[in-house]
Amino acid sequence: MAPLRRLLLALCLPAMLLPPAVPFPAPSTDWAACRDLSQRLSRLLGTMKESHRVLVSEDMEGECAPHIRCSDACDPSTLDTNSTLCLQRILQGLQHYQARLGSDIFATHPQPELKAVLEELLSLVQVPMRSCRPPPPPQADSWAQPLLQHGTLERLRSFTAVMSRVFTHGASTR
Ligand SMILES: *[C@@H]1O[C@H](CO)[C@@H](O)[C@H](O)[C@H]1NC(C)=O
Repeated sequence: MAPLRRLLLALCLPAMLLPPAVPFPAPSTDWAACRDLSQRLSRLLGTMKESHRVLVSEDMEGECAPHIRCSDACDPSTLDTNSTLCLQRILQGLQHYQARLGSDIFATHPQPELKAVLEELLSLVQVPMRSCRPPPPPQADSWAQPLLQHGTLERLRSFTAVMSRVFTHGASTR
């Protein structure tokens, strides 16, 4: 047998022995795991003591704003029919907050636990990425850092509340 044929046969034989091709399932989001993680994130955020009650306003509007809006298809009935858009928005938010927690703003108060949970959630949400332009990072002058930390955590808290509801609903219907 010609070496090439032998090689091809050797390569293809295992494939021929497999049962007939089943369409490969696309990786799908593990809703229950996401629900549990987002609830853990909520609890972590809830236990953090913060002394600053002043919110620094940041320009958070724009296509990549890290909050979930009504138009993001995260309501229960849309979620049940097609969760893609909502999961894409959640993915964008998770990436945003992961970047924020890793930025200069948190240099003096790193948040390894929060980062770890965000990291895990990022690995679980399986949806094609929709790119968008993130809001520019705020100037992190050292005097402003505590305020920016606080603002980021406040926003992450409300983002997490919505995300948690989305995953809880999704996990209950899947
Ligand atoms: C779900 O929505 C996404 C984004 O709008 C779209 O690309 C996709 O084709 C939809 N999937 C189904 C099954 O309708």
